Amino acid sequence: MSIHRQLAEQLHQRLSAAQSGNAQSVARHRKRGKLLPRERIAVLLDDGSPFLELSPLAAYGVYDDDIPAAGIVCGIGLVHGRPVMVMANDATVKGGSYYPLTGKKHLRAQEVAEQNRLPCIYLVDSGGANLPMQDQIFPDKDHFGRIFFNQANMSAAGIAQIAVVLGSCTAGGAYLPAMADESVIVEGNGTIFLAGPPLVEAATGEQIDAQSLGGGRVHATLSGVVDHRAPDDQSALAKTRQILAYTNSRALRQPEAEPEANPQPRERVFEFLPESAKTPYDCREIIRWLVDGERFEEFKAEHGTTLVCAFAAIEGYRVGILGNNGVLHGDSARKAAHFVQLCEQRRIPLLFLQNITGFMVGSDAEHSGIARDGAKMVHAVSRASVPKLTLIVGGSYGAGNYGMCGRAFNPRLMFSWPNSRIAVMGGEQAANTLATVQQTAATAKGSPLSDAQMQAIRQPVIDQFETQADPYYATARLWDDGIIDPRDTRRVLAMALAACDLDPNPAPPGVYRM
Ligand code: COA
Repeated sequence: MSIHRQLAEQLHQRLSAAQSGNAQSVARHRKRGKLLPRERIAVLLDDGSPFLELSPLAAYGVYDDDIPAAGIVCGIGLVHGRPVMVMANDATVKGGSYYPLTGKKHLRAQEVAEQNRLPCIYLVDSGGANLPMQDQIFPDKDHFGRIFFNQANMSAAGIAQIAVVLGSCTAGGAYLPAMADESVIVEGNGTIFLAGPPLVEAATGEQIDAQSLGGGRVHATLSGVVDHRAPDDQSALAKTRQILAYTNSRALRQPEAEPEANPQPRERVFEFLPESAKTPYDCREIIRWLVDGERFEEFKAEHGTTLVCAFAAIEGYRVGILGNNGVLHGDSARKAAHFVQLCEQRRIPLLFLQNITGFMVGSDAEHSGIARDGAKMVHAVSRASVPKLTLIVGGSYGAGNYGMCGRAFNPRLMFSWPNSRIAVMGGEQAANTLATVQQTAATAKGSPLSDAQMQAIRQPVIDQFETQADPYYATARLWDDGIIDPRDTRRVLAMALAACDLDPNPAPPGVYRM
């Protein structure tokens, strides 16, 4: 089996392990008449709706406890044919309590929703902040409280905020339904309170059970904290669909051209991708395999040839593609800036195919102003208001990651292939840099380092970079929105292009020839 096929198999194994959960917790959950988060999502969405799940391997291998998907399932699906963002707590994972990466994932889903004007549906079943980790989830700007801040601001921007309380909703968590535009609670399982019965007894001496304190009947009839009461998960989700019929959700974006198949088999990606990341190949192979009818129009094909810029369509959606074909030089960076401005002016979304070791170094490059040319590219990418999608198909190193729309440059969605690597530089280069710095200092003191001492400095750095550049290390920490099977690339990008909101009339800056 080719290395890329093996990597895809490994991805599917890890995804299915993350979805199967802990058997004991799942059995306990079912005994309470509750559906699992992915089952809830399937009931909520239209029959046959796609579900573009975000970061399914968040928190992978990060904590001492196994916290599959960081305890929250997030993604984009369709209700009444319109795209929505669903955020569903998984109560079988430590009571659905929020680890730091649970919070980060929830906030990222809200960010995607806000940028693309997707109604938010919160399927709440959570013990709130993970108490032993409260210092990493409670107090800071991008911690738990930000979820409610975002709810208020999205609501004000006309983006519907709907909460469905299917289990616990305690303390700060109580604000999720309380801040929502409209909410539903499941009788018997759903509870909302600022303090649960044990804390109430400790604080005031009052003895009361959870349902009497803040169950469905209390909130639907007495407090008015929720708007609708339902007997079980199924009916609560059916009610949510009815609510969504009267929200101002936007339609899916329509393709500009007639969608057209690509004649190449999906599997062919495993043939043209070289076994070793060090073997160069022409990124036009990916583009030809990816786009409708294998057709693309190259821009400046004979200039700045280490970057391919091309107009094409994916399932009829126009897209401007930037793909690396080697290190970025001044001319390729200027070409990128020009092309990004063209796409901005023509309102064509951008797709970055990252396989980049960085910008050219050395005196020739520096003297001709590589830093200035790189800055033009980074500037154009930063300012582009059309949807930007990023896919790491190989390496993502150094400032190349920035110019090619890495995480810091607000791609609307960002995915990686299982063979990808992401780091400030390669492990060998980092090890040599650190060893050289230390050798210079030791030599200045008159006691240069031996080869063995140099190797002792280098090896731990190489090992550290090897671990940290791994795509699972990256996806676990939400540096992307998920690792995808390369064979699914066309489907995932087409769904992303359809779901992305494209403002047709911003004031474009015009095109400056670089
Ligand atoms: N912080 C840390 N761990 C939590 C937690 C929290 N807020 N809420 C639940 N857990 C853990 C439990 O310790 C348990 O861990 P274990 O599997 O290692 O034993 C696991 O999640 C499941 O909790 P359990 O109480 O057995 O499940 P349950 O389904 O019967 O009840 C809750 C779930 C959420 C109702 C209940 O755990 C609870 O009330 N938690 C505290 C809620 C709270 O007061 N939060 C305040 C946040 S500001």
